[in-house]
Amino acid sequence: MYILILGSGAGGGVPQWNCHCDNCAGCRNKTLPVRERTQSSIAVSSNRKDWVLINASPDIRQQINQSPLLWPADGQQRGTAIKSIILTDSQIDHTTGLLTLREGLPLPVYCTDVVYEDLSTAFPVFPMLKHWHGGLQRRAIGTTHEPGFQVEGVAGLTFHPVVLESNAPPYSKYRDNIVDGNNIGLQIVDNATGKSVFYAPGCVQASDLVKNMLEQSSCALFDGTLWLDDEMIQKGFSNRLGSQMGHMPVNGPDGTVALLQEYDIERKILIHINNTNPVLDESSTANAYLRDNGIELAYDGMQITI
Ligand code: MLT
Ligand code: MN
Ligand code: ZN
Repeated sequence: MYILILGSGAGGGVPQWNCHCDNCAGCRNKTLPVRERTQSSIAVSSNRKDWVLINASPDIRQQINQSPLLWPADGQQRGTAIKSIILTDSQIDHTTGLLTLREGLPLPVYCTDVVYEDLSTAFPVFPMLKHWHGGLQRRAIGTTHEPGFQVEGVAGLTFHPVVLESNAPPYSKYRDNIVDGNNIGLQIVDNATGKSVFYAPGCVQASDLVKNMLEQSSCALFDGTLWLDDEMIQKGFSNRLGSQMGHMPVNGPDGTVALLQEYDIERKILIHINNTNPVLDESSTANAYLRDNGIELAYDGMQITI
């Protein structure tokens, strides 16, 4: 299985257009070793030819244009190697890119009922895009882990939903009151080898199922949004804790590093990293702490083979 990291940043990316925090300023002015990062999205394939896009970020146009693997058009004047789309939630940073894909519709889009509800009401991209070549072809997925589902146009992979504890977007009727399906992670199994990747860009607490996934996976792409739970408050950018937004911190006893330390996973990779997170500065002690713990930081353009 092949994984292409299209966007490794959280909402806003790095540098965020209006942000002058140490990381954003240091990245913009090239005074710190902080890489630019676009917003959260990955693509997965079993043959490097047919790809499923997982989440469609506001930066999707730039991400595709920077990824030759996603260009092929099968001999047609227009076309794409993206055969299907899966949405893990209805957040802006995971769904706004659907609008940008309008020239290439119809495309099958797999999402849960509550994500479809948000995207038909509060942020109505499904009804809007009906006006473009048949629009987004919604394919319903459930919230139970078994039996998993396959997606159109991408052979050899099975996707198992993993209900995650996180939050719904501010415009969702499920904000601060989530139900199963507002946020799913995905266990992606390569049918030929049986190996799996666990993708969870937003997770506030590890359920038994999440722990089970970490136990089984060869690669974990896990929520690395914030270093500290009160990072956004400390820096004066928000009055909400990371945990209220649906993200566990990277550091501390309830953090991602402590969690991942418990498992013997070939590749432990943090993804969906917010621009305020000190791990983004490659000269920081926070970044060194990850390396010392065998944890990698996803970057745009990163390719992973499992
Ligand atoms: C999140 O992951 O918590 C959201 O994407 C934040 C946002 O919408 O900016
Ligand atoms: Mn996000
Ligand atoms: Zn910033």
